Amino acid sequence: MVNAIILICAYLIGSIPSGLWIGKLFYKTDIRQHGSGNLGGTNSFRVLGKKAGIVVTSLDILKGTAATLLLLIPYFSESTIHPLILGVVAVVGHMFPIFAGFRGGKAVATSGGVLLGYSWPFFIVLIIAFFIALKATKIVSLSSMIVAVVGLVYSAIYWIVTGDFALFILVAVLAFFIFYRHRANIKRIKEGTEPKVKWI
Ligand code: G3P
Repeated sequence: MVNAIILICAYLIGSIPSGLWIGKLFYKTDIRQHGSGNLGGTNSFRVLGKKAGIVVTSLDILKGTAATLLLLIPYFSESTIHPLILGVVAVVGHMFPIFAGFRGGKAVATSGGVLLGYSWPFFIVLIIAFFIALKATKIVSLSSMIVAVVGLVYSAIYWIVTGDFALFILVAVLAFFIFYRHRANIKRIKEGTEPKVKWI
């Protein structure tokens, strides 16, 4: 029973559509009608501005972290579910949110939050990789996919060194989600029409 409840909680946490709610509540804007139509941090930056972008990205990261840390709650500590599974379920909630008609984000920030909850040094490596990629490409979506590959390589090395196979498998699942959700971005990158950022 506790396993079912903790999985539902992880899904519901991931389902919180921060970009959509902040846009509607404070800016009277449905960000799904503007920019890329995505309800993630990048489109919040694009449509609502820097402040909203930072808040939405932070909240999306926190959702992933919160899901992996659910096991710290006394009742849930009896659960046998691996924290990374809870994180993956939260990312599924982020991509298919019950509170936003199952039309959600592209898995990047929430996946980062999952890794922050599981291993903060890993998260720091990914953040550094993201900004290096963004400086070089100026394209957020491309940088997100580069980071997914960096994460996969990092977790493969970590598996060889420490034997943590669960981390590698679950990072592979998250990387698959990220590439799958960026299909339209990949098409635009190939066509040369994907927007670039100017601030870096
Ligand atoms: O985190 C999503 C980002 O990689 C791309 O967002 O709005 O440019 O499609 P967007």
